[in-house]
Amino acid sequence: MRRLLLVNKLEWDDLATVDPFWSILSDPTKRFSKWDVGEFFDTGKKEVEEILDKARSLGFPAVKGRALDFGCGIGRVTRALARHFGECHGVDISEEMISIAKRLNGDMSNCEFIVNVSDTLGIFPDNYFDMVYSNIVLQHLPHRNQIELYILEFIRVLVPTGLLVFQLPNWIPLRIRIQLRRRLYLLLRELGADADFLYTRLGLHPIRMNFLGEREVVTLLEGRGGRVLHMRRSGREGKSFQNCTYFVSK
Ligand SMILES: C[S@@+](CC[C@H](N)C(=O)[O-])C[C@H]1O[C@@H](n2cnc3c(N)ncnc32)[C@H](O)[C@@H]1O
Repeated sequence: MRRLLLVNKLEWDDLATVDPFWSILSDPTKRFSKWDVGEFFDTGKKEVEEILDKARSLGFPAVKGRALDFGCGIGRVTRALARHFGECHGVDISEEMISIAKRLNGDMSNCEFIVNVSDTLGIFPDNYFDMVYSNIVLQHLPHRNQIELYILEFIRVLVPTGLLVFQLPNWIPLRIRIQLRRRLYLLLRELGADADFLYTRLGLHPIRMNFLGEREVVTLLEGRGGRVLHMRRSGREGKSFQNCTYFVSK
């Protein structure tokens, strides 16, 4: 597991170095540093407003004290959460992502950005966060066991009146699972090729894709006292990704 974690870290450090904005929101028209910074951060605001609208209708969290943004990248969502919560903690495996997050969000005094190269959230005590949020992260983890470990950690660090919201594909088609570009990228990288050359000149990148079925996720959550309040599905059956965003209390 430790080796997989270190490979995962290297991949995201590379991505943060070559094109952090596109590696987070992979809009094909924005590839090669074409994201406008303001437009990029506006997507986070809109996302958080939609999530909090749904949260209000569910009656959670009871208090908007402390929020965790797991896999925060450069703080697209952490920054937006900080407009609603007393304090926000953005956690990421990539030092490079965190260093950009600190630079771009230096004006947000209630945001803290932390590097965590671990399968757990052991840096936080039990029952600590009013809201735990994670979007476009769990699908990029190397192993399903690792996805499960983090989901259990989300439950552990959530206060009993809090809300956990995370997104995870429940299925992805075989053609995406094969990940040829990623395999070639890793091979050439191991042979000493430069990350920028592989990305800019050869159009390769190391983004990996994983998924976990809905039934497995719900069973896991319920086994740890989680209550699934709502599941928001998107994507077309059989065509492309099928995504699920889980709204959970405990
Ligand atoms: C596609 S980006 C999404 C960033 C952010 N959630 C957003 O929506 O703006 C995925 C992020 O997950 C981070 N990540 C990948 N594996 C991780 C892990 N094991 N622990 C924490 N962060 C991880 C990456 O470094 C990257 O910043």
